[in-house]
Amino acid sequence: MGAGLALPALLDVESGSAATRDSKSDKSEDSSFDPWVAIYAENFRHNVQEISRRVAGRPILAVIKNNGYGTGVANVARILEPQPEVSGFAVVKLHEAMSLRDAGIRKPILLLGPFDQKNLEDAAARNIMPMVYTPQGDALDGVAAKLQKPVPVHICIDTGIGRVGVPYYQAAPLIRDLAARKSVQIQGTMMTFTEDAELDKEQMRRFQETCGGLEKEGIALGKKHAASSFALFQHADAFLDMVRPGMAVYGIYPENELRHTNVMDLRPALSLKGRVIYVKKLRKGDSAGYNRAYIAKEDVWVATLPVGHADGWPRIAPKGAKVRIGSELYPVIAAVSASHCIIEIGGEERVKIGDTATFFDWQAGSRPEDVSEACGASVYDLTMHLSPLLPRRIV
Ligand SMILES: Cc1ncc(COP(=O)(O)O)c(C=O)c1O
Repeated sequence: MGAGLALPALLDVESGSAATRDSKSDKSEDSSFDPWVAIYAENFRHNVQEISRRVAGRPILAVIKNNGYGTGVANVARILEPQPEVSGFAVVKLHEAMSLRDAGIRKPILLLGPFDQKNLEDAAARNIMPMVYTPQGDALDGVAAKLQKPVPVHICIDTGIGRVGVPYYQAAPLIRDLAARKSVQIQGTMMTFTEDAELDKEQMRRFQETCGGLEKEGIALGKKHAASSFALFQHADAFLDMVRPGMAVYGIYPENELRHTNVMDLRPALSLKGRVIYVKKLRKGDSAGYNRAYIAKEDVWVATLPVGHADGWPRIAPKGAKVRIGSELYPVIAAVSASHCIIEIGGEERVKIGDTATFFDWQAGSRPEDVSEACGASVYDLTMHLSPLLPRRIV
């Protein structure tokens, strides 16, 4: 199986703080008007340490699915692999798991997504652990016999999310069957919260009761894990033996209200940037954007940026999002089209062609959560919808 889509990644490793590196790289790479995603390795490391502190040193299974939440799945894995706090990686798509092995990633990889018998064989041959929740015992026997080694798996129990996982009230016979097979090594047992305050408590109870019953029978369930980023902010009884965050690793609070707690200091590890391609003055009454989405109330300067919804910049950005140029924030106006958006500069021509515009980064006022609060786009959309075609610059 191939490595999947080849993603452009410009390695540009420099030293110093994120701020200085950022301004340096702005100067050194100004030949192109193509927008880019910058990745701050130091912030990744900081976030991992914050999470580790929060969970009292429990292992972190870093979720890097969906192209590493926009950063590039191999980019983030390469940055995180040397971190002792990170015990492994989880992805949903088999091609992402394969491309991590192709990239030389050696830590355990958990495949959260579906697979058929052939995929199972390919995955196990490359030490990719499947997440199992249907009667796969015979298939696992076959693969283990072929590879001459047991297949490590994680078992997924559905305690209420209704997505994937064996329903908790049907889990015991499935797990007994898998545990009894020499071909299977249960390395972990997991669940996913609905992130509904009431049901989360009940989900935890269902999980503990199901696992507790099986453990009393002498069945080893491996590391139990449930906590994604949201749960890291909740009671520690959800941390179990290992945690499984995605968004927090990228330094972004999964819900806006969690920003204002002191539970963890998270620093966004990615930014979206582009350069001004055109600056002009609209006269009073002139319009901008398809369907005349914006009409100038008076003479006003606007700037066009080469970033649109095909790049991952949300169509709802004009509902309040602001873009930073220099130290000023300018509102997104009109309509976001596939490859462009427009910002309002004001009464004076304060920006010029070639200036770097930051759509979001780690600075107060420009964080993904600020954009989210301003226009209503989810931070998951802002990151995971970033086009894989944008160059990634690791700084
Ligand atoms: C099974 C599972 N675990 C963990 C995560 C990580 O979630 P988050 O990014 O909210 O931490 C996800 C992502 O949606 C997931 O599907």
